[in-house]
Amino acid sequence: MQQAVFGIIGAGGIAQSQHLPNLARAPHVELKTICDLRDDVLANMQSKYAIPCAETDYQTLLADPDVDAVVVATKEDMQAPLTVEALNAGKHVYVEKPLADTPEAVEAVVAAQRKSGKFVAVGFNRRMAPAYRKAKQLVTADGGARNMHYRISDEYWNWGRNNPPGVRVIHEVCHIFDILRWFAEANPVSIYCVDSRPDDEIFVIKFDSGCVASITNSGYVTMDMPKERIEVVSDLGAVTVEEFVELRTYGYRDTEAVFRFPGHSHPDREFTHKYLLDTLGADGLYAVRKMGWELRERSKNLNPDSPGMDDAELQDYFSRRSPHWNYMVDKGWLVAMDHFAQCILEGTPPETAGAEDGLWSARMSAAAIRSRETGDVVTF
Ligand SMILES: NC(=O)c1ccc[n+]([C@@H]2O[C@H](COP(=O)([O-])OP(=O)(O)OC[C@H]3O[C@@H](n4cnc5c(N)ncnc54)[C@H](O)[C@@H]3O)[C@@H](O)[C@H]2O)c1
Repeated sequence: MQQAVFGIIGAGGIAQSQHLPNLARAPHVELKTICDLRDDVLANMQSKYAIPCAETDYQTLLADPDVDAVVVATKEDMQAPLTVEALNAGKHVYVEKPLADTPEAVEAVVAAQRKSGKFVAVGFNRRMAPAYRKAKQLVTADGGARNMHYRISDEYWNWGRNNPPGVRVIHEVCHIFDILRWFAEANPVSIYCVDSRPDDEIFVIKFDSGCVASITNSGYVTMDMPKERIEVVSDLGAVTVEEFVELRTYGYRDTEAVFRFPGHSHPDREFTHKYLLDTLGADGLYAVRKMGWELRERSKNLNPDSPGMDDAELQDYFSRRSPHWNYMVDKGWLVAMDHFAQCILEGTPPETAGAEDGLWSARMSAAAIRSRETGDVVTF
């Protein structure tokens, strides 16, 4: 099979949990080069995934004529400028969200993408989640989205952190702005925020199609509640998707009432919150998730004062202490990466979110924060 040649810049948390394993197994990808500032991370990941080249200087990677595409997964302060450099070097780019903290910084990516003619995929992977693609197909066949609700809630957001208000909107709710635009097939005309406390808020959005939406965003909800749920009302019917694994349909003729989607790491089992709750109870679920989060933070070894853990220690710890450590629902990461590679090979525009989608999401984040600060409805 023909394969597009990839390099990756940034081998931290999301690269280790998703992009590196996915690049290694995606049928249309050959991963040639890994780049990170940290030598220890480079050595571990190069040997784990048998990657031919490892670099600390991303410019060496961008200068390699063999490389067709670059995955950028550093941080929001660098992702937009790195994407622009990679496009100018003639590479296609898969870049993590958020592209940048401000819409102004994302505009440079849109301009560079247009000038280069290369593809940009922004890491709004939910567009490729199997449950959401099936839901969208049903909604579209019934005249499109009219009214939507999304809840994104996760207590672990606040564990060990003291983020100022607004960071969660830029980092987490940006995904939801994108997926609601995708379902609506429309752009927002206004957004309004009411909050009870920072990171506990509701956003109300009106789209230019007439579709309306609300988002419940909470960084406090208890761990035993599934993290994400979407409800979409179309012309005659409606769909709900719970935590990417259970799609329910209402009012559509000739369609099953329930579709089930397996977890990402366990194609044969559903390690949903409900499963963990049923088998471990609320306290057990809380302990498992919190332990997993703490160990992942430590495993990144970003704090020089923390001893961290190497990969083998971490795996051993998880396998002895928790049978559920690799609980993961399919939010579309693998499909998005392989689809992007296939589009590069065939020269067809990818269905992943593009640079302009990244810009819209950044605009919505900025407007949402402004509405929370001023109490005004913000129009686009
Ligand atoms: N789509 C998703 O579901 C999802 C999930 C988690 C994180 N993310 C996003 O992915 C991005 C990365 O997050 P993370 O948690 O992996 O961060 P991280 O801090 O764990 O990893 C970033 C890595 O980039 C490296 N890096 C930084 N600057 C570099 C440079 N100039 N050259 C080479 N390497 C460099 C760092 O050394 C580090 O290893 C963030 O924007 C985050 O919001 C997306």
